[in-house]
Amino acid sequence: MRDILDIITSRRSVKRFQPQFVDWEKISRVLEAARHAPSSGNLQNWKFILVMEPEKKQKIAEAAYDQHDIALAAALIVVCGEAEKAERYYGEHGSIYTIENCAAAAQNMLLEAHSLGLGSLWVGAFSEEDVRAACGIPEEAQPLAIVAIGYAAETPEKPPKFPLENLVYFGSWRNRSKDPAKYMVDIASILERRAQNVKEMAQNIITTEK
Ligand SMILES: Cc1cc2nc3c(=O)[nH]c(=O)nc-3n(C[C@H](O)[C@H](O)[C@H](O)COP(=O)(O)O)c2cc1C
Repeated sequence: MRDILDIITSRRSVKRFQPQFVDWEKISRVLEAARHAPSSGNLQNWKFILVMEPEKKQKIAEAAYDQHDIALAAALIVVCGEAEKAERYYGEHGSIYTIENCAAAAQNMLLEAHSLGLGSLWVGAFSEEDVRAACGIPEEAQPLAIVAIGYAAETPEKPPKFPLENLVYFGSWRNRSKDPAKYMVDIASILERRAQNVKEMAQNIITTEK
């Protein structure tokens, strides 16, 4: 089994897709991953609109300020938040929780898609009004993200990511470690752990075959 960190780090935003069908099992696994995302108070105040019809995908691509390439993705999943549900429990903060809940669901979809060998893209630049119109989204729900899923027609380069020592403070703001290597899991130890897993799996196979 692939280490989840390997899946996280090797996922890329794919902007060009092959016009190829993705079987229903894979699409439903991606949706299943969304369903299991964490949500504030387990409210699960989201809905996922699965769009596979070419004309409607084209409409959504136009609503995404003419990001036409996403119309070739096998599926566009419009992630909608139902903020009112969260506001009932959490007052004003409910709208932030709703965005966070939907973001967690969207990220789960990207990771599951990648683990299935599919490309994916989180599309956040779109006209809310036009996406509402394309998908008939009522007032009580809000489109927060569009997740494009399909077979990739490109292998994007990994964009630069800040190193951990730039991002992590210890205990209080701006308190950096003087010796990050001492505390941070470096890539060498990740690879070592992975090699150990493979070794253990091989040993298990040998033992069961005996
Ligand atoms: C909230 C959000 C909105 C985004 N919107 C778009 C978008 O509208 N179009 C696009 O091509 N990429 C979009 N992206 C993808 C980012 O450009 C991409 O994640 C970033 O460049 C890092 O690349 P990586 O995902 O391969 O690590 C969005 C990502 C996030 C999280």
